[in-house]
Amino acid sequence: MQTSENAILLTGASSGIGYALLRRLHELGNKLLVTSRSDTSLQKLQSEFADIQTFRCDLSNPTAVELLIDFCRSEFSDLNVLINNAGMQLEYQIVDAKGRAKLESEIRTNFVTPLQLIQDLLPLLAGNEPAAIVNITSALAITPKKSAPVYCATKAGLSNYSDALRYQLEATDIKLFEVIPPLVDTAMTAGRGSGKISPEQLVEEFLRGFARDKEKIYVGKAKLLRFINQFAPGIARNILKNS
Ligand SMILES: NC(=O)c1ccc[n+]([C@@H]2O[C@H](COP(=O)([O-])OP(=O)(O)OC[C@H]3O[C@@H](n4cnc5c(N)ncnc54)[C@H](OP(=O)(O)O)[C@@H]3O)[C@@H](O)[C@H]2O)c1
Repeated sequence: MQTSENAILLTGASSGIGYALLRRLHELGNKLLVTSRSDTSLQKLQSEFADIQTFRCDLSNPTAVELLIDFCRSEFSDLNVLINNAGMQLEYQIVDAKGRAKLESEIRTNFVTPLQLIQDLLPLLAGNEPAAIVNITSALAITPKKSAPVYCATKAGLSNYSDALRYQLEATDIKLFEVIPPLVDTAMTAGRGSGKISPEQLVEEFLRGFARDKEKIYVGKAKLLRFINQFAPGIARNILKNS
């Protein structure tokens, strides 16, 4: 897939991996529509990257997502790449009632909304081939950790869905990429874990895979985890269980 001259919808561009993607994809000469829940973050991005388009959207809210889809149809109709990057990770014990209140927003943001965006934007993508969908999942989609069961389930679901949709897109010129990051040094992982890679390292590996049409892009230690899981799944489970 070409890495420049695309029209890209990138969700969650305000920090971490999304911000690194925005910087690099902008530098490469792509047209970008980016989202965040915060007007302040979007104003900051707009002043740094004058020619991008921005759209405030809470991706856990299906009505707000409909408005984003309508905006793409009317104001960003040359869309040929959708990057489902935005995500949230909540750590809690299932027995803890506090987690129950956040169940729906975590599942919507990480799983339902990416599917809604894909399904409703497919006609636009199909009209602008060559096109691509990029889903950011996680090494935790391979085998889960104890502390974030819903997050791990949403990422495993998105990974499985990506494989099935890739089959359905075989006859088209729409590629389905899945990026499987290891631990990356962002706000999401602040104060935990070690041996993290930077968001910029992740983006460079993604771009190498994207340019080579490598549709499942395992990054850094996620490659090793995949290998261990294939031959010794019990060891892989133990490595991630308390990570
Ligand atoms: N960091 C890691 O180690 C790691 C590893 C594997 C996979 N990932 C995945 O990589 C992606 C990016 O994560 P990150 O580490 O860069 O996290 P981050 O720094 O916390 O950024 C998360 C981004 O998602 C957006 N977001 C979160 N909830 C949202 C919602 N309800 N509606 C709209 N936007 C929302 C945030 O935007 P606003 O707050 O501005 O709205 C922000 O831009 C996620 O899908 C994550 O699961 C991360």
